[in-house]
Amino acid sequence: MAELQTNFDVSERSGLPSEVRKYLLDCPRPTWTAHPRYHGKAEFFIGYHTFLRAESEKLGSELEKILDSFTTDVADNPDFRKAEDAGLRLIQYAQHHHRIEDANYFPMFAQMHPKLRGGLELLDSDHRALSSALDNMGRTLRKRVPKEDAYGSVAIANDRARELDRLLKRHLFDEEEIIIPIFLGVQ
Ligand SMILES: [Fe+2]
Ligand SMILES: [Fe+2]
Repeated sequence: MAELQTNFDVSERSGLPSEVRKYLLDCPRPTWTAHPRYHGKAEFFIGYHTFLRAESEKLGSELEKILDSFTTDVADNPDFRKAEDAGLRLIQYAQHHHRIEDANYFPMFAQMHPKLRGGLELLDSDHRALSSALDNMGRTLRKRVPKEDAYGSVAIANDRARELDRLLKRHLFDEEEIIIPIFLGVQ
């Protein structure tokens, strides 16, 4: 898919750009759960996104807990194990979810709704940015450092987790605006 301009970048935007928003299907978010078709794919995707948001928040809160009561034995700290588990679970489930969207849903939606192609390209570009942020997070969590560098290492992981959380939440919200009305059968 074509490269997008930087103002579409998930790390910089504060919502969907007007060039995408003007083509969204007409179905405002507050009406979704009462829609007769909500209890199917729409509910499944919202549920999956809610799970990803919760895992991302868990990673951040576990890392902050370590920094708040820091000991040099990070590798033996059960909080670090919990943070690592939450992070690796988030990475695995998010990458899996994005692969399915890229391979199956986005091409199908582009066929069904040609006007949404710009928005779907934006989501595809988000996935590439997130893939790199998730890989980076995984490398950070797996890295073992000498005890004297442990605090700095957890602080870096915490910064990366915050940034990842921000990007992920931006992507998930904007993606829902584009795809949930499609699942609801809006034309
Ligand atoms: Fe996505
Ligand atoms: Fe998604």
